[in-house]
Amino acid sequence: MDAGTLMSTAIRSDWYPVHIVRDESEAIERLVHDLDGRRAAIVTDDIVAARHARRLAETLATRGVSVSMTSFPPGEANKSISTAIGLLDWLAGSEVRRRDVVVAVGGGVVIDTVGWVASAYMRGVPYINVPTTLLADVDAALGGKVAVDHDSAKNLIGGFYQPKAVVTNIGYLDTLDDRQLRAGLAEAIKKGIIASPDLFELIESEREQILARDPDTLRRLVHGASAVKCRLIERDPYELDLARPLNLGHTVGHALETVTGYGPVLHGEAVAIGIVTAAQIAERRGLLDRESLCRFVDLLARVELPTSLPGLAVEVDPAAVVAALGQIRKIRDGSLRFVLPTALGEVVIADDVADREIQIALDEFAGSRR
Ligand SMILES: NC(=O)c1ccc[n+]([C@@H]2O[C@H](COP(=O)([O-])OP(=O)(O)OC[C@H]3O[C@@H](n4cnc5c(N)ncnc54)[C@H](O)[C@@H]3O)[C@@H](O)[C@H]2O)c1
Ligand SMILES: [Zn+2]
Repeated sequence: MDAGTLMSTAIRSDWYPVHIVRDESEAIERLVHDLDGRRAAIVTDDIVAARHARRLAETLATRGVSVSMTSFPPGEANKSISTAIGLLDWLAGSEVRRRDVVVAVGGGVVIDTVGWVASAYMRGVPYINVPTTLLADVDAALGGKVAVDHDSAKNLIGGFYQPKAVVTNIGYLDTLDDRQLRAGLAEAIKKGIIASPDLFELIESEREQILARDPDTLRRLVHGASAVKCRLIERDPYELDLARPLNLGHTVGHALETVTGYGPVLHGEAVAIGIVTAAQIAERRGLLDRESLCRFVDLLARVELPTSLPGLAVEVDPAAVVAALGQIRKIRDGSLRFVLPTALGEVVIADDVADREIQIALDEFAGSRR
């Protein structure tokens, strides 16, 4: 090091509890404890406000917590910089101070947006996630990836900012519509395939109880899936390594969402097709046996997730998906990473999957299944 160079170091380590509780009264106990006397600034969307968050805010107030609340319209279109600015304005006009806590109550849209706002306000105020969709329970609420979308790309503006705590109340899933529940299940099945035969088998054997929203079964499911995510992100919390098993189904999934314009196909539905495609490619390469491929596809189909392009709510041309993947390949310096399952609980990463293999895989199940 020459005489003019100094080294500045900033090391930070974050840890947080993930409480998975059965009902709102248990959630309130956890929140009161984790708020630790601080003011709570609850942010939610309009649907979740009416269903749950308003009642939650009122009950917290009866427990002596100083609470303020705001909401924004639901939907991916509102995971935006303008929503974030509106929330920053709201915080700036409120009594929320550096040590007070922003509480995100909602699905992934609320959680991603609010996390990013919390990271920016006063250079970072603590926030607690209270997820209300299955997708947010097992995925978005964990890991501190916070972002809003830009017209040119999803999640373009964001960062990593870990929550102070996550309070997951299974009871909130009672009001979630079936399609959203199934979309969340796709992410749970993915976690089983990449890292947890136990989780996969739980979904296989308790499928009906899960779809009927039996609280104990849902709690086991959310616990198992959350544990897989926590374990995997701990190894690489800032995604320095792009070869991540958690991306199973997401290469083709993202292309499908791009082609359909982020809306008509839910993220979990796109991921379901992405999983089938990856498993299909793996089987053709001789990496995965046919029996495992069928087992994966069967479970997705049994929970009524689409497993082929014709199973989607909108018509999609396989060639358009391959073309979108070509664009993604270009942006990523010519290489597309595929997570390929090799057995239940095991995957490999491949960066040499050819367009033709993808095309064959997309065509393979077309018409034969939902
Ligand atoms: N940060 C991450 O690591 C991560 C991971 C996965 C997904 N995400 C993000 O999550 C977002 C998708 O999240 P989502 O699937 O939860 O969608 P969402 O937040 O749009 O919620 C789906 C719909 O369900 C409604 N809703 C939420 N909870 C409800 C409840 N309990 N009862 C009735 N209705 C309810 C919402 O108002 C909304 O209309 C995407 O933007 C995605 O990028 C982030
Ligand atoms: Zn996902």
